[in-house]
Amino acid sequence: MGSNTLLFLAGDGIGHEIAQETLKIIDAISDITQHKFNIDHDYIGGCSYDAYGTPCSDAVLNKARDADAVLLGCVGGYKWDNIPFEYKPERGLLRLRKELDLFANLRPALCFDALADSSSLKSDIISGLDIMIVRELTSGVYFGEPRGITGDSGHKIAVDTQRYTQAEIERVAHSAFDLARKRGKKVTSCEKANVMQTGILWREVVTQIHEKYYTDVELSHMYADNAAMQLVRSPKQFDVILTDNLFGDILSDVAAMLTGSLGMLPSASLGMADKNNKIPALYEPVHGSAPDIAGQNKANPIAMILSFGMCLKYSLNMPTESAWISAAIEQVLAKNMRTPDIANNMSKIITTQEMGDLIAHEIRHIAG
Ligand code: IPM
Ligand code: MG
Repeated sequence: MGSNTLLFLAGDGIGHEIAQETLKIIDAISDITQHKFNIDHDYIGGCSYDAYGTPCSDAVLNKARDADAVLLGCVGGYKWDNIPFEYKPERGLLRLRKELDLFANLRPALCFDALADSSSLKSDIISGLDIMIVRELTSGVYFGEPRGITGDSGHKIAVDTQRYTQAEIERVAHSAFDLARKRGKKVTSCEKANVMQTGILWREVVTQIHEKYYTDVELSHMYADNAAMQLVRSPKQFDVILTDNLFGDILSDVAAMLTGSLGMLPSASLGMADKNNKIPALYEPVHGSAPDIAGQNKANPIAMILSFGMCLKYSLNMPTESAWISAAIEQVLAKNMRTPDIANNMSKIITTQEMGDLIAHEIRHIAG
């Protein structure tokens, strides 16, 4: 019987709805195990801008540092389309990632058996799919300086800078190889060394780390554009994909869609262990805030619930409970209960809340 503190930042759009369902799952696990989750709720993104005048407040950052882990829903929406760039909801998320130094973003793309025919690809191409994308999350073109738009109307110039240091590449490479060792022992490192200096350095550093520490893992290199194509052509060739911030953003959306819906994909963002061996961690679905369906009880809460599952596994040392969640989801999907995004013409279409209730019920059943 232990206890942990979690900071829950539901965010914008469908964030609140998927957070409510995740809380049901947390309650179920707490009831079964008597493990206590002390949950603090606060704002991030557009709702934080509305409440505090900033998309990520210092107070939230401090709470995030103190918590055992942060759960985050999603940020953004039409409402904040016209506010200044530095106040945009997305800036809040980027600040949180950067300030906690959450450099290793793990994005598993796993195809649940029951969803094999919800993918836009043929089911034999994706059934049994199990890929882990490791995306560098705190550097690259998302943060490189200089950046900005200068010049007069008619002659404007926009600059973003893709920048990587050797140390930044090394640490995320270690994360990818360590993970691969516990899985299929294969890393595919993706960049564009054919056109980018950062790609050349990336390839060189990953190769060095591999030769020095991980010769038991197979390493191959692939240009990121080819990787996008290969993900659609034959995704099961991959085990761990290691890539930078921008390519990782794009490749993980491709990978997510292979599994049936963006609404299925969780993620973990991990930092460096501190002197007490505590690793800062943030868990969030890969999907966005879906303002078009917000408030309609239609959103798929599974990616958020699976993100809590990753939290149990990676931050709270509760792998058994994490496995209950995946098993429960598999069961619910097998009964063909689906939110609209993963429905087929045989499905019973259910609401966000019903999905949460069913998964919580299955967890109690599996564990009991
Ligand atoms: C993601 C999202 C974010 C990103 C946005 C919301 C800033 O697309 O987590 O994949 O680009 O990293
Ligand atoms: Mg993205």
